[in-house]
Amino acid sequence: MNTKISEHTPAMQQYLTIKEDFPDLLLFYRMGDFYELFFDDAKKAGALLNITVTARGKIRGKPIPMAGVPAHALENYLAKLVKQGMSAVICEQVGEVGKGLVERAVTRIITPGTLTDENLLDEARDSILLSLFCFQNNYFFAYADITRGDFQLTMGLNEQELQSEIERLRPAEILMPETANVPAFITALKPHRQPDWYFDSDSSYRLICEYYQTTTIDGFGIAPDDPALSAAGCLLQYLHDTHKYHLPPLKPLQKQHDHQYLLLDATTRRNLELEYTLNGESKHSLIATINRCSTAAGVRTLKRWINQPLIQHEYILERQEAVTALLTHADLDEIAKTLRATADIERITTRIALQTAKPRELAQLRDTLMQLPAINALLQTSAAHSPLLAAATQALMHCPQLGDLLMKALVEAPPLTLKEGGIFAAGYLPELDALHELTDHSAQLLEKMEQEEKAQTGLNTLKIGFNRVHGYYIDIPRSQAANAPAHWIRRQTLKNSERYVTESLKTLEERLLNAQDEALALEKQAYTELLITLDKQRDDLYRLATALAESDVLTCFARLAKEHHYCRPQFSNQIEIQITAGRHPVVEQLSAQPFIANDLVLHQKRQLLILTGPNMGGKSTYMRQTALIVILALAGSYVPAKEARIGRINRIFTRIGASDDLAGGRSTFMVEMTETANILNNADEHSLVIMDEIGRGTSTFDGLSLAWAVADHLLQKNRALTLFATHYFELTALVERHQHGANIHLSAAEDQEHIVFLYHIEEGATSKSYGLHVAKLAGVPQAVIHNANAKLRQLEEKRVPQRAHQALLPIESQKPSLSPQIKNILQQIQEINPDELSPKAAHEWLYQLKTLVRDLDKNEL
Ligand SMILES: Nc1ncnc2c1ncn2[C@@H]1O[C@H](COP(=O)(O)OP(=O)(O)OP(=O)(O)O)[C@@H](O)[C@H]1O
Ligand SMILES: [Mg+2]
Repeated sequence: MNTKISEHTPAMQQYLTIKEDFPDLLLFYRMGDFYELFFDDAKKAGALLNITVTARGKIRGKPIPMAGVPAHALENYLAKLVKQGMSAVICEQVGEVGKGLVERAVTRIITPGTLTDENLLDEARDSILLSLFCFQNNYFFAYADITRGDFQLTMGLNEQELQSEIERLRPAEILMPETANVPAFITALKPHRQPDWYFDSDSSYRLICEYYQTTTIDGFGIAPDDPALSAAGCLLQYLHDTHKYHLPPLKPLQKQHDHQYLLLDATTRRNLELEYTLNGESKHSLIATINRCSTAAGVRTLKRWINQPLIQHEYILERQEAVTALLTHADLDEIAKTLRATADIERITTRIALQTAKPRELAQLRDTLMQLPAINALLQTSAAHSPLLAAATQALMHCPQLGDLLMKALVEAPPLTLKEGGIFAAGYLPELDALHELTDHSAQLLEKMEQEEKAQTGLNTLKIGFNRVHGYYIDIPRSQAANAPAHWIRRQTLKNSERYVTESLKTLEERLLNAQDEALALEKQAYTELLITLDKQRDDLYRLATALAESDVLTCFARLAKEHHYCRPQFSNQIEIQITAGRHPVVEQLSAQPFIANDLVLHQKRQLLILTGPNMGGKSTYMRQTALIVILALAGSYVPAKEARIGRINRIFTRIGASDDLAGGRSTFMVEMTETANILNNADEHSLVIMDEIGRGTSTFDGLSLAWAVADHLLQKNRALTLFATHYFELTALVERHQHGANIHLSAAEDQEHIVFLYHIEEGATSKSYGLHVAKLAGVPQAVIHNANAKLRQLEEKRVPQRAHQALLPIESQKPSLSPQIKNILQQIQEINPDELSPKAAHEWLYQLKTLVRDLDKNEL
């Protein structure tokens, strides 16, 4: 319905004028004790918040939809909304009520990426606002976590790298230019499109300088024409838009550089279930399993460390040394216990800067500051053996005067909010103490004045009284009126008495009546001043918060190592991963059965291991545990093994399991091939590659041929350290001919009826899959198993003898180099850029590939 604003009632006109500025956000419009939403907002809120949609008035005969939430419950509803990725605008009544139309104004804009309120935030997760800019086919982004003041720029990223970063950061909100084209996975995250000019490079540069109050950005070590600055500019503009009063504090802008972190693509992050399991839950993820942190800030840091392992050994060793020092010298349980009582200083510091910190949070800050000497003492001996802990303990003791200040300023348990006052301790503000004394002792003061007046006038029947019309007065019998002193002012004459006031009584009255208001105003002002004083130490407070959080994670690593007998991994400059008695950190903790530890040897002369063994035999577990051990080691943790030596590994790739990407228009097999292509194109000798049963999603020969060609390529071209699990026994022949490959297997023992998995890695290959045994274990009906057994026997009788069958595949292994046909196939796989293919083109490509493989069968085998 297209109506003009002027057709509405004046009240509605006011609403619509404000709403015009926020067409895409839900507008919460204060009306008395409720916040109301109208029109489409009402319908949306009705669905999102599960509240009733009613109507208020009509326009052109049609009711206007309306939904509302009680003012006191607003925060709960907002929390619900932001969890669903929605933004909201809060419009308050700012004018006087009762005199016509109340003046209203927008006071807060709540968006998922700009939250700082304690009750709207998830304490265990970073809250990331990300701004994305595309430039010359590269993606640049800036991201900020305003709850901790972090502000970072990325390098130019390709689509895959972008996806990996998005998977790592899981931003709460994404901003991007209105007209930019972005990949489907970004669109699926519902980015908030901003005007293109928000990304203008000149104004971005200016905005950044303005924010940091500098004239250039040279001091940040960032080139002035860095395209990521445009993204940063938009992010700052957005903060201006959403923060009406105070801009959130941001630490100096930092640029991420290459070669700092282990590269993990988005698929690998998901496959390895670092923070979330494949079904999207955090329970049973690596992080949930190893987490022993005592504080929310510790958990957030742990997540950052595991999601972004280091590759420079010197930094990893710093963390390791700290863990060793804690294990050797510290009372870990006592540290954990003491840390548990500390507050989330990182977030409180941000709220202090925004002037939104609540009195109770300041009390928490005070109590934490008071705890620091104790924490420091607990860390002291370990700190002597670890530079990282030494630096942390120093940071802990950096602002002792703040603790003293807060001790003096605050009462023991201040109220949650500022509304009723009662925040400041006696002795902190003499003026406030006087006011409090006044209100607390009003009865005594009046009594005192009465006595004084009696003494001065000799009128013993004199009384001080109060009524609502005249306020305080001095009352004497009429008979005594003649004796009233001249400075008394007559107020009221009654039948039997005369009433007077004096200047001093008037002053006292005024003071008494105003004292409460004055006290409240004074407290508010003093509170703001206190926040400003605290904010002056913002950097120290952030440093202190980091020191606490990192000590927490290091203590978590130490406790984990102690509890589960982890070892300290060694690092080398070779290309190698050598593990003695390694275990899977998650399966080991979850399973009731004892976990069977296994060794692993991978190095330049033993690059690729073909892993065979029965279904359910432990292949996937073994390969994943290898990747997880590497990740834990690079994050600075000890690892679940007896010994581990890890060389220069910069990157981990995984191709695990089958998944559809229907939203992205890719079938299971297409996903598999896309991921494989990515690995073949990018893995190098510093990569760890995990291939779990590639080629399953197509016909046996196609799958087998592909698996074979892929393994061969990894071995000969990529030279990556590779674990390759397969049920194609034929593949085992490949490595027999290549000196840098080897076969290993997991075995099982069987009798007539049963199968026992041994979970033990041994050299050599095995050909049995025990698929039917596993099917039976899984409860497939007896009749089906019986039929399958009969069919299996039939097939085995007909089967091409093993040697002939093998001859099918090692086309190349019989020759010194790859045949032109295989080269052609590999070339094609390599050249394809799956991201640029439409589903239709991909399908056609697959047919083409199949034809190639079929021709190969005919010509070569
Ligand atoms: N080393 C081990 N010690 C104890 N239990 C193990 C071990 N490895 C695996 N398991 C158990 O066996 C189960 C199956 O392991 P996994 O999924 O790794 O088998 P798989 O060989 O990959 O099977 P499939 O061929 O069907 O994919 C695991 O969920 C775990 O409970
Ligand atoms: Mg498996």
